This record gives sequence, structure tokens and C-alpha cells, in this order.
Amino acid sequence: MHHDIEQVLFSEEAIGARVRELGENITKDLAGEDVVLLALLKGSVIFFADLMRSVSSQIRVDFAWVSSYGDRTESSGTVELKVFPDEDLSGKTIVVVDDILDTGRTLAAVVDKLQREQSAAVVKTCVLLDKVARRVTDMRADYAGFEVDDVFVVGYGLDYADRYRNLPYIGVLKAGCYEGDGAS
Ligand code: IMP
Ligand code: MG
Repeated sequence: MHHDIEQVLFSEEAIGARVRELGENITKDLAGEDVVLLALLKGSVIFFADLMRSVSSQIRVDFAWVSSYGDRTESSGTVELKVFPDEDLSGKTIVVVDDILDTGRTLAAVVDKLQREQSAAVVKTCVLLDKVARRVTDMRADYAGFEVDDVFVVGYGLDYADRYRNLPYIGVLKAGCYEGDGAS
């Protein structure tokens, strides 16, 4: 285990099994629809790569780059949509894939843009982790892997200041690794 990790919450094996279940559910629910899996960068990359291989119906993939955190553990409150797909998404079923649903601001902003500006027919959301206690919007995920308590987690794509994404498991970051970072 990495020396900055307090505790492993989800092992590689546990994540793998749950991601396969999510992929099977998406396959079952959306087969026959014109589906685009939309990854939110950067946090969802590892989850996304595993999830898309667990979906056995025909899909396409695309990427959006969204940022709300900066180098802190508290959301800045504003969501910056840095890069968005330029393909025509009208009439499509979009599954927005993110690493974690926290306050809900990120997914709310992306879903809103897809529905209002890009006229997607159906917008679903899929997250690996759901931090229910932190929600400030009414956003809920259609597909969620695991619920987590209000602790700061890293690994399997999730970062602190762009680090720890390459850990193969998800663990709680030791408080000493981010204390004094200016977050309130
Ligand atoms: P929201 O907009 O507050 O729902 O935040 C979603 C984004 O915050 C995620 O895509 C993550 O990048 C980041 N985030 C929230 N909680 C954590 C955490 O515990 N670890 C790492 N990143 C997190
Ligand atoms: Mg992040």
C-alpha cells in the first residue's frame, strides 16, 4: 500500500467485479439505442476504459474535459467546461461517466448542457463512487458503483492535485497529505 494512504476502501478485485456489473446493466437497459458513452476527463479514464469493455451492446465513445476542483479537496463551486464533443449529439442516448458524484455540480452542468445546447434525446449518468452526504444539488446517478462516506479518496483515476491516479485501488488519503492546502 502507498505510504500516503490511510486505508484501502475498494480493492482492484472488488472494483473489477462491480464495474462488470455496471457494464452489464448498461448493456441490458440501453441495447438497441444509439448510445454514446461520454467520459469526463481526467478522473474517469481508468473507470471508463474498464466500463466500456464491460458493455457488450454497440456503443460509441467520446470525451469531455471538465474541471471544478483545482488542487484542493473542496469544490471551487464553479464548473469549467474546457473541452466538449463537437459531434452532433442530437437524438442520441448519452451516458455521462464520471469517477465520483460529490456535490453534484459537475454532472448537473454537463447534463444541462447536453440537454439544452446539444439536444440529446436521453441523458443518463454513471459514476463509480457516490458521496451522498456531500450533495448540494438534486443530481442522482442512474448507475453508481459504491457509496462512500465523506472522506477524500484517491486512486483508480481519482486524484489529489493530479497525483495518485495510477494507484490500482481506491483508498482514503491521509489528512497530512492535504492539510494546509487553503481549502475551507
Ligand atoms: P462535484 O461537482 O462536487 O460532484 O465533484 C465531482 C468531481 O470532484 C469529481 O469528478 C472529482 O474530480 C472531484 N472529487 C470529489 N470528491 C473527490 C474525492 O474524494 N477524491 C478525488 N476527487 C474528488
Ligand atoms: Mg479530480
